[in-house]
Amino acid sequence: MNAKFLVLEGMDGTGKTTQATRLVAKLETAGRRPLHLREPGTTDLGERLRDILLDSTRTQISPRTEALMFFASRAEMLDSEVAPALAAGRDVVCERFTPSTVAYQGLDQELTQFVFALDSLVVESALSPALVIILDLSAEESLARATDRSTADNFEARGIEFQQQVRAGYRAYAEQRPAHTRVIEVAGLDPDQVEAAINLVIDPLLAHV
Ligand code: TYD
Repeated sequence: MNAKFLVLEGMDGTGKTTQATRLVAKLETAGRRPLHLREPGTTDLGERLRDILLDSTRTQISPRTEALMFFASRAEMLDSEVAPALAAGRDVVCERFTPSTVAYQGLDQELTQFVFALDSLVVESALSPALVIILDLSAEESLARATDRSTADNFEARGIEFQQQVRAGYRAYAEQRPAHTRVIEVAGLDPDQVEAAINLVIDPLLAHV
């Protein structure tokens, strides 16, 4: 069985966690042994960096430094979790990965290039996602859904213009990496319909050994 590294992406409120959980259950039912991870976090270092980065009361950190911190968390997760899992034949389902850093820290062209450069240094090709699925939603709807269920983290608290930029950043990522990226528009879809759309892109990949 060919182990796959699958990434679910999208702004807060797009339903990443629901869909990642369903995908993990589907893989288990198929007799696979998926590992469910999230970024930033997963490792001890990653969880500590997450606490600092998401703290809405923290002092400002430059986008470059934020990107480096997210990549430190990513490198640790790749080395300690993703690489061993794939080597053992286990699929990995991860909520957020490099596309988030492009979207949230790639605030201009120079920063976007910086993030892609970090990605090519940190994420070796063997550890590159087989597929990135971006759940796409308008900035307005994403903010409304996210504020319904939790207090805003540092990034959610940055307002509508920032969220619009994030959405554009995801699109820029999809344009840069078309072969391994699919964008699913989730507005107006219920979770079952989103799951069906995800299965349409995942099933051929799983059948392909
Ligand atoms: P999280 O609670 O995990 O996301 P969600 O609410 O969608 O489940 O929050 C992670 C936050 O970190 C989110 O606001 C986006 C931000 N983030 C970045 O800014 N850059 C990154 O590279 C990553 C991975 C996350």
